[in-house]
Amino acid sequence: MKRPVLLLLSWMCFCGLLQPKLLVVTVATEETDGFRRFLRSAKHFNYTIKVLGRGEKWSGGDSMSAPGGGQKVRLLKAALQEIKSEDRIVLFIDSYDVVFASSPKELLRKFQQAKHKVVFSSESLIWPDRHLEDKYPHVREGNRFLGSGGFIGFLPNVREMISNWTGGDSDSDQLFFTKIFIDPARRKSINITLDHRCRLFQNLHGALDEVVLKFENGRVRARNVQYDTLPVIVHGNGPTKLQINYLGNYIPNTWTFETGCTVCQENLRSLSTEYPLVLIGVFIQQPTPFVSVFFERLLKLQYPKDRLKLFIYNQEAHHEQQVSSFLQDHGGLYRDVKTISPEEEMDSTASRDFAFDLCRKDKECDFFFNLDVEVVLKNEDTLKILIEQNLPVVAPMITRVGRLWSNFWGALSADGYYARSEDYVDIVQGRRVGVWNVPYVSNVYLVKAGLLRSQLKDRDLFSSQTLDPDMAFCHNVRSKGIFMFVSNMQTFGRILSTENYQTKHLHNDLWQIFENPTDWEERYIHENYTRIMKDKLIENPCPDVYWFPVFTDVACKHLIEEMEHFGKWSGGGNRDTRIQGGYENVPTIDIHMNQVRFDKEWRKFLLEFIAPITEKMFPGYHTQVGSASWTVLKF
Ligand SMILES: *[C@@H]1O[C@H](CO)[C@@H](O)[C@H](O)[C@H]1NC(C)=O
Ligand SMILES: *[C@@H]1O[C@H](CO)[C@@H](O)[C@H](O)[C@H]1NC(C)=O
Ligand SMILES: *[C@@H]1O[C@H](CO)[C@@H](O)[C@H](O)[C@H]1NC(C)=O
Ligand SMILES: *[C@@H]1O[C@H](CO)[C@@H](O)[C@H](O)[C@H]1NC(C)=O
Repeated sequence: MKRPVLLLLSWMCFCGLLQPKLLVVTVATEETDGFRRFLRSAKHFNYTIKVLGRGEKWSGGDSMSAPGGGQKVRLLKAALQEIKSEDRIVLFIDSYDVVFASSPKELLRKFQQAKHKVVFSSESLIWPDRHLEDKYPHVREGNRFLGSGGFIGFLPNVREMISNWTGGDSDSDQLFFTKIFIDPARRKSINITLDHRCRLFQNLHGALDEVVLKFENGRVRARNVQYDTLPVIVHGNGPTKLQINYLGNYIPNTWTFETGCTVCQENLRSLSTEYPLVLIGVFIQQPTPFVSVFFERLLKLQYPKDRLKLFIYNQEAHHEQQVSSFLQDHGGLYRDVKTISPEEEMDSTASRDFAFDLCRKDKECDFFFNLDVEVVLKNEDTLKILIEQNLPVVAPMITRVGRLWSNFWGALSADGYYARSEDYVDIVQGRRVGVWNVPYVSNVYLVKAGLLRSQLKDRDLFSSQTLDPDMAFCHNVRSKGIFMFVSNMQTFGRILSTENYQTKHLHNDLWQIFENPTDWEERYIHENYTRIMKDKLIENPCPDVYWFPVFTDVACKHLIEEMEHFGKWSGGGNRDTRIQGGYENVPTIDIHMNQVRFDKEWRKFLLEFIAPITEKMFPGYHTQVGSASWTVLKF
């Protein structure tokens, strides 16, 4: 009877050795977006986390540039003194820019395989003192230098390692650990090694080309292609915050091919009880087509108008009439309206800072919704959807029809301008659907007002000597560690081209058939046009005359008004200097399309919308639209 008991006991010990108690310790003085991302990945793998320094003021220096981090060592030293069970294995790790890519089990297995009592993450770049390079042991393969952003070790060894710490909070933790490591005696007695080949820790600084995403059965890892390893922990150290944001859009299971987005339905804000108050900032900064349509859409936005305040900034005298007619008819519906007109000569950068400040100072304001006038918000629920998403800064993805152009950037170039991320095209074309952490959004986005009163309380977020206002804003948001997201969970709309927009006509939108064909068609082509063949809507009132819906009422009105505005109706006689030969056989009182410079557009319209009909009515005949002088007749 004794033997089975003994067997059982030894089996338990074996387990205890394989799975000793792991304690993850991190320092987080603030609950940043990055910290929340870290916690989510930790929770996914059931890591137990001890957070130090909560609510304490961060005095460990600016980790983006200068050395620092002594505060972390001080807090760790104090915390380790309180832990009683000596068999603990301690993982000390940064958290604002870290995600777990695998389980505690794999971490412990790899730690054990490293055959040392303390294992530090490694880096290819030496920091902060490059003069120490010669003192580092040589390595045959892998990174040579120590990174203090992550290490794992047995409690007594870690405790011993930091026992001599007396540094200040802004002293360099990395230098402190480096000096221990490069001292052969201390390295040996504490039994420290580096994770040279990134089996446990992947520091991204200096290694961007080595790391790719690896998708496998409903989870995503980082793969180091240089050393062919799958690190357990990924750390966006130094200036690689955007890369960890990119990787964090996938790792460990944020988005996978099998599940799609797994975070998009988490932590939503319910709109069932009350609607938060939103200040909508509308910005008209250049002559823009379809401004009246923009305001028609704004009116149709699904949100209680008594919970909306409007701020309309208009820099263009050309659009004043459209703004004032909208406000005259509907301004009263909104809780408040404020406008800045062209006469006030506020520049566009100042207008954006001004608008933020309106919300910031207004105790009622819960959100700021930025809406540039060139945005075509087709989805009437956009505002509600964005609020429900409950994110610090979130933009609905909008694109330019038929182009890869959108209102977000997936990556930044080294000098801070646009760069294409590997997943950009898949996101824009909707092959990957989710809510994406990105470095730049513009044109339409929602900001939590609480941020404007805390981290984003600077009153000149859009001002910069070198960057345009949108880039300056995004730069400021990023530098505060606030995450910006773009959602393509739904179809939200598109963005107009404002190029080549002429304002010399009465109804300039009529000329947009080339530049913004989709919007032109929506505005000017009859809703039943596409059904005329199927539903036999073509009437034949008299021989050779066909009658069918093609223009909207607005199109007819605009065409007529445009001609009346031009006003140079022909005399209606046979003499007509506008045509070759100067003789008109069948005179009418009319204006030729080319007189108002509408002939190219009209030709395009005939080819696009009339030719397909005539070709169906007269099969076998090909429609040619010649140079005939198309005319609007006056009756
Ligand atoms: C984490 O713990 C929960 C509950 O104890 C368990 O259902 C889940 O499978 C665990 N997840 C992992 C990755 O071990
Ligand atoms: C370091 O620790 C491992 C076991 O964790 C041991 O095998 C090895 O001999 C130690 N090295 C030194 C130099 O003490
Ligand atoms: C701590 O300081 C003592 C005395 O200077 C030294 O002997 C010891 O090696 C140091 N330990 C570590 C881990 O640095
Ligand atoms: C389009 O056709 C439908 C169904 O015949 C009709 O009810 C509707 O009024 C038409 N639309 C317009 C703008 O005439």
